[in-house]
Amino acid sequence: VPVSRIRNFSIIAHIDHGKSTLADRLLQSTGTVEDRQMKEQFLDNMDLERERGITIKLQAARMNYTAKDGEQYVLNLIDTPGHVDFSYEVSRSLAACEGALLVVDASQGVEAQTLANVYLALENNLEIIPVLNKIDLPGAEPDRVKGEIEEIIGLDCSGAILASAKEGIGIDEILESIVHLVPPPQDTVSERLRALIFDSYYDSYRGVIVYFRVMDGTVKKGDRIRLMASGTEYEIDELGVLCPTQKQVNELHAGEVGYLAAAIKAVEDARVGDTITLAKAQAAQPLPGYTEAKPMVFCGMFPTDADQYPDLREALEKLKLNDAALHYEPETSSAMGFGFRCGFLGLLHMEIVQERLEREYDLDLIITAPSVVYRVITNKGEELYIDNPSHLPAPNEREKIEEPYVKVDMITPETYVGTLMELCQNRRGIFKDMKYLTQGRTTVTYELPLAEVVTDFFDQMKSRTRGYASMEYHLIGYQENPLVKLDIMINGDPVDALAMIVHRDKAYGVGRALTEKLKELIPRHQFKIPLQASIGSKVIASEQIPALRKDVLAKCYGGDISRKKKLLQKQAKGKKRMKSIGTVDVPQSAFMAVLRLD
Ligand code: GTP
Repeated sequence: VPVSRIRNFSIIAHIDHGKSTLADRLLQSTGTVEDRQMKEQFLDNMDLERERGITIKLQAARMNYTAKDGEQYVLNLIDTPGHVDFSYEVSRSLAACEGALLVVDASQGVEAQTLANVYLALENNLEIIPVLNKIDLPGAEPDRVKGEIEEIIGLDCSGAILASAKEGIGIDEILESIVHLVPPPQDTVSERLRALIFDSYYDSYRGVIVYFRVMDGTVKKGDRIRLMASGTEYEIDELGVLCPTQKQVNELHAGEVGYLAAAIKAVEDARVGDTITLAKAQAAQPLPGYTEAKPMVFCGMFPTDADQYPDLREALEKLKLNDAALHYEPETSSAMGFGFRCGFLGLLHMEIVQERLEREYDLDLIITAPSVVYRVITNKGEELYIDNPSHLPAPNEREKIEEPYVKVDMITPETYVGTLMELCQNRRGIFKDMKYLTQGRTTVTYELPLAEVVTDFFDQMKSRTRGYASMEYHLIGYQENPLVKLDIMINGDPVDALAMIVHRDKAYGVGRALTEKLKELIPRHQFKIPLQASIGSKVIASEQIPALRKDVLAKCYGGDISRKKKLLQKQAKGKKRMKSIGTVDVPQSAFMAVLRLD
């Protein structure tokens, strides 16, 4: 196909506004996927994704479409992940497109994440086509939502498409708009090859499968390619397009979207945002926008059973093959033994990895509370980045501590503004801005320490607003604060895995609340267990878990054997996610206690 008849686009939507349903419809009505073989939501093909109803990894699909003008067009849909943790990937897949459908649920309205992604699309100069979805719903208010989009984004909505992905309304109009409004790619076939990697995954037979958009030039099967950021070279074994299943071709030209396999060993070697060029005829400059994903949130992972340490290492190695953003390194904790310190893009990324380790690799893990990366200047003038609170230099060895701050944008119904502001205030937030949108909807902007956001902020926001508020955040920089290290002792033993960094003014409150919570969470033993929180050598809070008075079996009347068995089984099960610290069994929940203090 000539470049003039290619259209590359993506779909921007808030979670649940209908992106996957619409994508399915487009694939169906262009005959790309036959109705019979239409699996629900073709693009979300990871189990975990489907269960959680969120799109984590982005992919692509090529559709042939005969437009009303009688011409045949190739439409490439490039999917984007829907979560703030993955906004770098979103920006790279948008960079591979010339246009985007902005899908907004007509019964809801614009949400924070939609906004963030629209700004990314505008930065990439994309043509944006507004689509109001779910107009079949009785509560749909397309005019109000149009007004909202115009108000917030400044996008003309007079031509917005009214659609229902579910009922199949407006689908033809969307396809025609893509053809007529999204500009074709530039014709740069004669230039040297530059292709943008927007996704990749690891396949155990063929090595990494790289998804890319050819920006300039031509790529052929058998070509020796060079990845400009990583500086490595490979020979292409397989080249193809996604229909949406893989179909091999011999060459791809500027403007086209496809995949390749070249015996690449790990996705880390073919990172999202990197530029593919030819080894023999290298492009002068890589494509702009490449950055290495930096982990923002860290936690410790320890097997409950020390024998599982090699299994944990192997599982992390395997996950890493498919996840360039995952970081890990061995950690030895005096309380917990051998484990790993792991770094993630954000909380969702962390949860996904933890869940996979436990589900796919059947590991029993103790996971410590999330921490951010602190910047410490020592009194010798050294700069340290500390991702583990227990590694914080002592007060007399450090000059200052800085912590990362994020700008948080929230969109909420007006009635919840008060409770949201209270939450932000409790979390050391700095009020920045508030704007009334349409009909009682408000945007609220705060700057907050990232440490306060990773500890349960999202769930708090959701529960305080009955799920009606949405948020988006991004890093704005580091700021100095009077921070101190809070240590926890259980039965006289300091537990490094429970150490945390807190603001001086909150330390007493946190220390007290934490010891109280631990008292609730750690089961009684045959002996008394003192719990203490301290700053340096100064104890600021203490509690005591009383000794068990009765044996658990004493509860069984008259020696009912099956009942006795049941009780013992129950005990054994409850033990699974426990870590012995000294002589005390500490359950997983205790390591997350800090997330449950409000
Ligand atoms: P993520 O994958 O989480 O980003 O969500 P999504 O935006 O892909 O939403 P999805 O397509 O999964 O749709 C969310 C819900 O809305 C599903 O229950 C759909 O059946 C429903 N839905 C999608 N489009 C329509 C529509 O036009 N009308 C109605 N009534 N429901 C719809």
